[in-house]
Amino acid sequence: MEKQWWQEVVVYQIYPRSFKDSNGDGIGDIPGMIEKLDYLAELGIGAIWLSPVYQSPNDDNGYDISDYEAIMSEFGTMADMDKFIEEANQRNIKVIMDLVVNHTSDEHPWFLEAKSSKDSPYRDYYVWADAAADGSAPNDLRSIFSGSAWEWHEESGQYYLHLFSKKQPDLNWENEEMRQSVYDMMNYWIDKGIGGFRLDVIDLIGKQPMKEITGNGPLLHDYLQEMNQATFGQHDLLTVGETWGATPEIAKWYSHPDRNELSMVFQFEHIGLDQQEGKDKWDLKPLDKKELKEVLAKWQIELGNEGWNSLFWNNHDLPRMISRWGNDNEHRVMSAKMLAILLHMMKGTPYIYQGEEIGMTNTPINDISEASDIETLNMYHERLANGYSKEELIRSINIKGRDNARRPMAWDDSENGGFSTGTPWLSLNPNFSDINVAQALADESSIFYTYKKLVHLRKEHPVMVWGDFELVETADEVFSYYRTLNDTRWLIVTNFSNEEQVFHATDEVIQTVIHNAEETVTSLENKTLAPWEAFVVEVKNDD
Ligand code: NOJ
Repeated sequence: MEKQWWQEVVVYQIYPRSFKDSNGDGIGDIPGMIEKLDYLAELGIGAIWLSPVYQSPNDDNGYDISDYEAIMSEFGTMADMDKFIEEANQRNIKVIMDLVVNHTSDEHPWFLEAKSSKDSPYRDYYVWADAAADGSAPNDLRSIFSGSAWEWHEESGQYYLHLFSKKQPDLNWENEEMRQSVYDMMNYWIDKGIGGFRLDVIDLIGKQPMKEITGNGPLLHDYLQEMNQATFGQHDLLTVGETWGATPEIAKWYSHPDRNELSMVFQFEHIGLDQQEGKDKWDLKPLDKKELKEVLAKWQIELGNEGWNSLFWNNHDLPRMISRWGNDNEHRVMSAKMLAILLHMMKGTPYIYQGEEIGMTNTPINDISEASDIETLNMYHERLANGYSKEELIRSINIKGRDNARRPMAWDDSENGGFSTGTPWLSLNPNFSDINVAQALADESSIFYTYKKLVHLRKEHPVMVWGDFELVETADEVFSYYRTLNDTRWLIVTNFSNEEQVFHATDEVIQTVIHNAEETVTSLENKTLAPWEAFVVEVKNDD
């Protein structure tokens, strides 16, 4: 595989609404992001995945776009955006735009046109279907945000498809003109000097709704190859597809360099491990750590050199991993560092979601009135009507809800954590006076500096990027693996639990690369690991 820049960097995700507010309206914005670029440069990241900043009525916080070539007014102007791209580039940070083209907002001019008449040239940009004989929806397809995926449009007498909210009508990728319009828009952004795209729910664009096929439809890869040729394939850009249904085999289809589709995928197999089989994310089950190891190791090994993976614990759709599978109480710092070391040492491009680098936590709510996210709200009301208890619903929301990761970034311990001088659109974590960036920067043993070290190690040690992966057999609570490149062999050892564990290996230790405890590791024989202890050692390579 020819080496690419996007394999060597660490990417940082900004959720702009919650990052930094510069004008006191309680909503993060682009000038706020510019202000914080030096902080990101200090962390050492090479790219920013920017959640949507386009004009949007905000039914789904920007994932419902009404104009792809305009900036949401709360976030600033196009001039601000151009400046952001330029300032980021000056710091060797590329800007990866979020490309949301499975659907638009129902306020996008294409949809306004489409719904105005069955004869509109834009009608076919979207997916319409007649009612069933009894007037009900064309079939049983469900929206990912609860309820039917079909919405009746009275004036034109047909249903339209929305796999997300009613205000997010699905685009019809079978329409060639629509596809061309999307490619033109992508080129508009490429010409601005961006570093690539994160492709929102891209596995859905090949859908065949009348056959009830949504993910991985038959023409999906044809569309991606066409898109590649028409847009980013002509440039040296990072493209990462959000692909919920990907297996390693499918991931190779997307990311094998010879296929000219995408650079890499976000696959979610590990993320689904605490949900009941065949049910929704809200239907909880305890995480089986053995299974987690098997799944992560499978992805490490099976992609081989035929594809590229991304590595992540967090994003704006997921609860904070430290609260989910780590320990956000007495072992907050140790478990945050352990999760970071475990992830960044694997093969793939690591992603850090804002606040992860300082160990921000979930914030539980007591009542649905405290929730903001449309997915959460729709689910709650639907399930309540279906007989679930309030208590069990709030419990699922506290564990899995998307607001957890969307609470504003805490920059310091001043009012509103230095995020805003106004009233934040969503309240900050109550622990912000302890967990904030200023505190993290001032404490050289903070989680931040573990992330910074990981980011820098990656730049200096090719084994971290290219080394082969080999899982070590251990107790379920210990996650350990080797990475090996030529003569260099690293051993990663982590304790994924609140209890001490014992690890044993006979390798000769050459040096400690990173450790979330003070001590340097000299011997691996019957080594007792403190709760959440994690270290990487270079060991003698006997082969
Ligand atoms: C995936 C995005 O990450 C999520 O935030 C959004 O709600 C859906 N796609 C719909 O665009």
